[in-house]
Amino acid sequence: MSDAKTYPPSDDMIANAHVNADAYEKMYQASLDDPDGFWAEQGKRVDWIKPFTQVKDVDFTLGNVKINWYADGQLNVSANCTDRHLETRGDQTAIIWEPDNPDDDTKHITYTQLHAETCKMANVLRSLGVGKGDRVVIYLPMIPEAAYAMLACARIGAIHSIVFAGFSPDALGARVNGCNAKVVITSDGAPRGGRVTNLKDNVNQALLNDFDEVKCLVVKHTDQQVAWRGDLDFWLHEELDKVSDDCPPETMDAEDPLFILYTSGSTGQPKGVVHTTGGYLVYAAMTHEITFDYHDGDIYWCTADVGWVTGHSYIVYGPLANGATTLMFEGVPTYPDASRFWQVCEKHKVTQFYTAPTAIRALMGQGKDFVTKCDLSSIKVLGTVGEPINPEAWNWYNEVVGGGTCPIVDTWWQTETGGHLMTPLPGAHAMKPGSAMKPFFGIQPVILEPTTAEVITENPAEGVLCIADSWPGQMRTVWGDHERFEKTYFADYPGYYFTGDGAKRDADADYWITGRVDDVINVSGHRMGTAEVESALVAHPKVAESAVVGYPHEIKGQGIYSYVTLMGGEEPSEELRKELEAWVRAEIGPIAKPDLIQWAPGLPKTRSGKIMRRILRKIAENDYGALGDTSTLADPSVVDDLIKNRMNR
Ligand code: WT7
Repeated sequence: MSDAKTYPPSDDMIANAHVNADAYEKMYQASLDDPDGFWAEQGKRVDWIKPFTQVKDVDFTLGNVKINWYADGQLNVSANCTDRHLETRGDQTAIIWEPDNPDDDTKHITYTQLHAETCKMANVLRSLGVGKGDRVVIYLPMIPEAAYAMLACARIGAIHSIVFAGFSPDALGARVNGCNAKVVITSDGAPRGGRVTNLKDNVNQALLNDFDEVKCLVVKHTDQQVAWRGDLDFWLHEELDKVSDDCPPETMDAEDPLFILYTSGSTGQPKGVVHTTGGYLVYAAMTHEITFDYHDGDIYWCTADVGWVTGHSYIVYGPLANGATTLMFEGVPTYPDASRFWQVCEKHKVTQFYTAPTAIRALMGQGKDFVTKCDLSSIKVLGTVGEPINPEAWNWYNEVVGGGTCPIVDTWWQTETGGHLMTPLPGAHAMKPGSAMKPFFGIQPVILEPTTAEVITENPAEGVLCIADSWPGQMRTVWGDHERFEKTYFADYPGYYFTGDGAKRDADADYWITGRVDDVINVSGHRMGTAEVESALVAHPKVAESAVVGYPHEIKGQGIYSYVTLMGGEEPSEELRKELEAWVRAEIGPIAKPDLIQWAPGLPKTRSGKIMRRILRKIAENDYGALGDTSTLADPSVVDDLIKNRMNR
């Protein structure tokens, strides 16, 4: 890998970038030598109501894990994303909104307008009884109101929990319940790729039985008919008419929670990742500026949805804290056709474009004419996120989209990390296709031998990836369950934050992420716990047992392969297969729909009854040679049957 072809930045990029190779080395060293000094300096990126005097206060010891940054400082995130820009850039566009349908009107929202809309929405939330520390669930399409809602919560000190609009009513209900939300903000409908989902219906279903305290604030967006829950529901536009646009920001402690975001793990139900105010904002702002080499006047576009952490940090908080122009796209890459991304880039003269490998692979399959007919000369930096990018997709992105002249930042990070932990920087590193390259400032990656937990110091190295010390954007706890937080991230490799990923470090000390080492799969850049899909399947009355694993999928990266054992007396059929697919869609959402369902009369288990997933993974991957030792199985013949009836793809 160390002799892979490298792609150095152009002289122009080196000369103009915020950080060149020399600066990277110096700053990185400084961030390790004196974390307090380094982060105190970076803390000045944001405006503090009361300046901090403490910087880092961290303990990774199991049973005593605490993570505090800038703890005695006070600030308000929405003031940092709006008020502080009014004087210098009030008339500058903060958000460009591009609708699902290209024939509908684009919106340009200035910082002055963003400020006013945020204040009004904040006053509406207050009028509904929301105060500091209360939780608000946001279940919206990609419309400007989603950003207003986030900033409005931050303004009054409410904690938002965004639920991706593609999630089902059940998943929504679980998240409303999980954080005891007072209000759900939604819209009548959500258009995507020309099809409209009735979001308000989903909310009604989610809240039907147990939630007669939860109010719902509804954005009128698609104008379709919606069913009303009596006096618990409110139209946003009617409420906005009743409030003023003056709303002084609440003074928040740096360690007050800013948001909760549910994400999947290897066991149990999704957990509520908690991010706090000061450190998160500093880290989101800094990484946004440096990773994408953002400069004043640039038009920055991240294609993610605000339902994922990428949307939080790199559509809303990072860019807006920096006074950037950030593009928000409601649609999908292939509607009306596979040229849409590139048309939007041309139309708005996008300078930084940030998307997921799965989108690149899907578009690559459509041929390059969709790209080359558009003028992409405005693009300076390309980025990817969510999963490892295969060299073929990297090369296509580089040549066809970037014209061979744009650095590609392959950003490795997680919901838990708040911002990028490893990435090449546009003006500092010679990129290698598929490598996340180097740690960001303050990040100390370590590769451990998985079974002995010994740190491997030489290069090359391969093992599990941990981080040796904290950074300001790190998650602080699992909502309502600090013990689960400690167990998940600090128990397996004591003294380290365990990422759940495997990694290699090559002879040049560049990092390559090899994928999850736990029972988490990555489907189109979306994280999915196999346990979640399994529990959805076994909740079906005809299913006795199920085991779910990932398998390589050309477009999605990984697909969902499920083995299903039916209840006695039930017969497998095509109809039942369809029924189970629809069932999982309804239980979790379309992204969790199994790609393949194999009827399994039995599952390979140890004598103590533990399902041997290692074997199931190998069968799904079509890799029988590597089945390993099956002698500990209670009934080894099960494996032969599974191999014989393996699903062809
Ligand atoms: C997992 C985190 C971070 C926002 C999107 C996903 C995988 C993420 C990369 C990358 C290889 C990557 C990891 C990680 N991942 N980015 N550039 N190269 N793998 O956030 O849902 O929290 O998932 O996504 O496996 O642990 P997430």
